Amino acid sequence: MSILLAVTSWDIAPWRARLQGLYPNETIHALGDGYDPAAIHHALCWKHPHGLLAELPNLKSIHSLGAGVDHLLADPALPDDVPVFRVIDPNLTAQMTEWVCLQVLAHHRKLPLYQRQQRAHEWRHHDCLPAAKVRVGIMGLGELGQSAGRALTALGYDVTGWRRGKAGVEHFSVFHGPDGLKEMLGRTNILVSLLPLTPETKGILNASLFAQLEHGGSFGAPVLINSGRGGLQVEADILAALNNGTLAGASLDVFEQEPLSASSPLWDHGNVIITPHNSAVSHPDSVAAFVSQQIDDVRTGQKPWGLVNRKLGY
Ligand SMILES: NC(=O)c1ccc[n+]([C@@H]2O[C@H](COP(=O)([O-])OP(=O)(O)OC[C@H]3O[C@@H](n4cnc5c(N)ncnc54)[C@H](OP(=O)(O)O)[C@@H]3O)[C@@H](O)[C@H]2O)c1
Repeated sequence: MSILLAVTSWDIAPWRARLQGLYPNETIHALGDGYDPAAIHHALCWKHPHGLLAELPNLKSIHSLGAGVDHLLADPALPDDVPVFRVIDPNLTAQMTEWVCLQVLAHHRKLPLYQRQQRAHEWRHHDCLPAAKVRVGIMGLGELGQSAGRALTALGYDVTGWRRGKAGVEHFSVFHGPDGLKEMLGRTNILVSLLPLTPETKGILNASLFAQLEHGGSFGAPVLINSGRGGLQVEADILAALNNGTLAGASLDVFEQEPLSASSPLWDHGNVIITPHNSAVSHPDSVAAFVSQQIDDVRTGQKPWGLVNRKLGY
């Protein structure tokens, strides 16, 4: 039984070392190794070459090494009969919670404006609402959205969230369905997107959605924060909304095309904060341990945590 690291765009050495430590009696293969396709039972993937998994006749499980699975489900030759799993890792969740809180605080406390003033050696105070008067709406209330929501609630923000299902969440109100989204947007000053990229959510962060956010209240124009996936957002609409005042600012960790083109006007917008898709990074130590538990569960016939619903796309 062998494990294949079907990983591109990351350094696989620490992943291989960590997995070898967890499975000392097994061979951990990587792309480019001369492995026997029939010997591979478990594929651990990040942006794997499409078609590759279909060539592994004895595959028992496919594991994303991140929380998102859009990179896997985009493979037109993904084997139908092999379960797909994703990562749920407290370390990844904690990083995302930090990043979301950082961005909400930055826009609420006008950090981009004070940074501009600092560069101009300008000492000027601007009024700021208390956190309890700032309404944060979170699209996507899964592992990451709920954790960020709890932390923002603890900071005193007025938090609500939107998800597909009707299940409630302790600490804040939950909306669902298209009507629920409309209702949440209408009361939202800072919109946080932690949705997965699926056929239903593609391009959801667009001009029509920005127009439904609360405008004209004491917070002023709303702010967009997206660390879900770049495919959720229409960047031309974000730029237009920033330029015409529909949005006051944005924090973006993900982009339609990555890396973001050096010529994108988003880089130079005064109220836009850009990070290079690193709000929450998969670390081999914690993620390999989580995935090895999934593999062990598959091998012993248990139900592993993190099974992906392929129909829903997440
Ligand atoms: N930028 C980064 O570095 C980074 C790092 C990690 C993850 N991510 C992104 O974050 C995403 C979320 O991760 P997660 O672990 O929180 O995922 P998750 O636990 O699967 O949660 C997904 C949430 O989105 C909701 N949802 C999905 N489709 C929807 C729809 N059509 N309408 C309304 N709600 C919908 C789900 O609703 P239900 O709860 O009702 O099912 C759920 O609340 C990942 O898919 C990935 O794209 C980004």
